[in-house]
Amino acid sequence: MSATYKRTLVTSALPYANGPVHIGHLAGCYLPSDIFVRYKRSKGEDILFICGSDEHGVPITIKAKKEGVTPQDVVNKYHKMMGDSFKEFGISFDVYSRTSSKTHHETASDFFKTLYDKGVFTEEVTEQYYDEEAKQFLADRYITGTCPKCANPNAYGDQCEKCGSTLNATELIEPKSTLSGSKPVLKETKNWFLPLDKLQPKIQAYLDQHKDWKTNVYGQCKSWLDSGDGLQPRAMTRDLDWGVPVPVKGAEGKVLYVWFDAPIGYISATKELRPTDWELYWKDKETRLIHFIGKDNIVFHCIIFPAMLMEHGDFILADNVPANEFLNLEGDKISTSRNWAVWLHEYLIDFKDKQDVLRYTLCSNAPETKDNDFTWADFQTKNNSELVAILGNFVNRTLVLTHKYYNGAVPSADTYTKEDLLILEQLSAFPDKISAAIEQFKFREALAEMMNLARLGNKYLAETEPWKLIKTDEQRVKTIMNIALQITCNLAVVCEPFIPFTSVKLFNMLNMPILKWHAAKQTSNMAAGHVINKDELLFAKIEDAEIQAQIDKLSSSKAANTSSVGSVTAIAPSKPETSFDDFSKMDIRTGTILEAERVPKTDKLLKLKIDTGIDVRTVVSGIAEWYKPEDIIGQQVSILVNLAPRKIKGIESQGMILMASNSADELSFISATKTGFNNGSEIK
Ligand code: 2FM
Ligand code: ZN
Repeated sequence: MSATYKRTLVTSALPYANGPVHIGHLAGCYLPSDIFVRYKRSKGEDILFICGSDEHGVPITIKAKKEGVTPQDVVNKYHKMMGDSFKEFGISFDVYSRTSSKTHHETASDFFKTLYDKGVFTEEVTEQYYDEEAKQFLADRYITGTCPKCANPNAYGDQCEKCGSTLNATELIEPKSTLSGSKPVLKETKNWFLPLDKLQPKIQAYLDQHKDWKTNVYGQCKSWLDSGDGLQPRAMTRDLDWGVPVPVKGAEGKVLYVWFDAPIGYISATKELRPTDWELYWKDKETRLIHFIGKDNIVFHCIIFPAMLMEHGDFILADNVPANEFLNLEGDKISTSRNWAVWLHEYLIDFKDKQDVLRYTLCSNAPETKDNDFTWADFQTKNNSELVAILGNFVNRTLVLTHKYYNGAVPSADTYTKEDLLILEQLSAFPDKISAAIEQFKFREALAEMMNLARLGNKYLAETEPWKLIKTDEQRVKTIMNIALQITCNLAVVCEPFIPFTSVKLFNMLNMPILKWHAAKQTSNMAAGHVINKDELLFAKIEDAEIQAQIDKLSSSKAANTSSVGSVTAIAPSKPETSFDDFSKMDIRTGTILEAERVPKTDKLLKLKIDTGIDVRTVVSGIAEWYKPEDIIGQQVSILVNLAPRKIKGIESQGMILMASNSADELSFISATKTGFNNGSEIK
């Protein structure tokens, strides 16, 4: 990066509007970008922070279909939800826009038209699967079939989730449309391709100028360029009815590829934020463009989007793309479908006003160079042993003593000792140390330095012991407390990018206006005689029970995933489909067992006398392995009362008891759990 930039434009990946935000998203790009932008703002630099919802793409249409609503309904719901939780978490976007907006549709459409008019695209006719019943081409996710690699019968057109293979829809055995269930046919369709193969030398030259990028980012780009035949043309249009319509003749019923329109969303959002001077941020060479993303977005931001911008010609290219790796949760990959996640909107309810604890934990464990793990135990330790015990403790001791000795008025410093001078020198060096780390996108290191300043404060108090000295040397204690207050004030400045809610509280307690970054290089921000406010609790201890509740919540997700409901390993119904009419022919009632005895010469059968509410009848039931006759007298049961009578071991059985059976083949009675359901209540 050259030092001549006048302004910075920071973008954070536009999240898909098909689910809530989780901690993986936060650690991947939203928290690091927020720290970077807050720091730059504090330095007084000209910077814009852009984000919004990515509202197109096939997963959104699939979700809508599943829920029986429109794609617009889906994105409206999640756009609001994500925007609200980002805001509450203190992610300080200057704009949070959305790609279904009019401005975005126009901007993306114009962008495509420009490339089209310049003859950048190649047109290709290919064969795609088509659903003749639904009368539409099928995106890969709308086709399922048997995986050619592992025989999984539920593989998707682009991927088999069982063996992890990447597939082409045409490779699936016995493909099926998920729209109508019919067998799709291959049909010709025309689409427009970005010829990345021809653009490879230009892209290579661009990347060659950025060998300073993070190793994980540069390495991934290089492997795309160096692999096999190098870059391949990529379709920028799709046969779909949800997205930005392709603005050229002969493209009716087609929309822009979601990865074509989404990054243009950064431009549209800037336009919405700054209608009069947005071009300065996108076209002036003195603007520095930085994309914060997660590692799965690298190819789109480092290769495809730059190629689009280059071919357009009017725009600057990214100067850096500091992508993070992935965050795991309790040793397992975060997964939306398995509900293996910590959802931000739930965290904000469960840990009200504790945004900074999560911000601190996620930053100190950020997956900057490799995948990392979030655990609730670590979250608790970070809070109790660092935020409470180091930062909170230092601030609390300083403020309490200031009130106790001086009624809250800052004492004046007298003569500095050699030790004091060393502390002041170290104090003034902190902002530059933290800056250096942030400028290199090393946020963990920067955060650790911030905490070292609180450690320095604690060490200073522990060594000088003002609480003892007050009895013998009041003058010296004034100097010590003055220095402790200067440290507290500078902490309020340098902690702001990381834990902004705490910073505001600190400035309030100190009764100081919010100071900017450069002030933290001074060691005399707190003037003698200035009166501070009463101190409030900065951080509270998090108890084991709160952590256990979160772990239990995750355990129930795990349990639900291994059961048959809502899981990728869902078990199909064990019997063929039945009609409602057939089902409603059955008369099932609640009843009570009045008598029970073994059927002679059998291991499994019990002869039961049951009060069904309509009569008392005999039923022979195969439950003797699980229940002793004497234990089940009075047991409420569900009984099919209109089953044709049949003879079992010479006894006429007049109905059937319904039992639940688990995977170990154990049997259990099914009874009403609410009182007031007397014998004869109908089960429907
Ligand atoms: O991975 C994702 O969540 C994408 N929606 C990111 C898009 S980033 C940009 F291009 F908009
Ligand atoms: Zn497979």
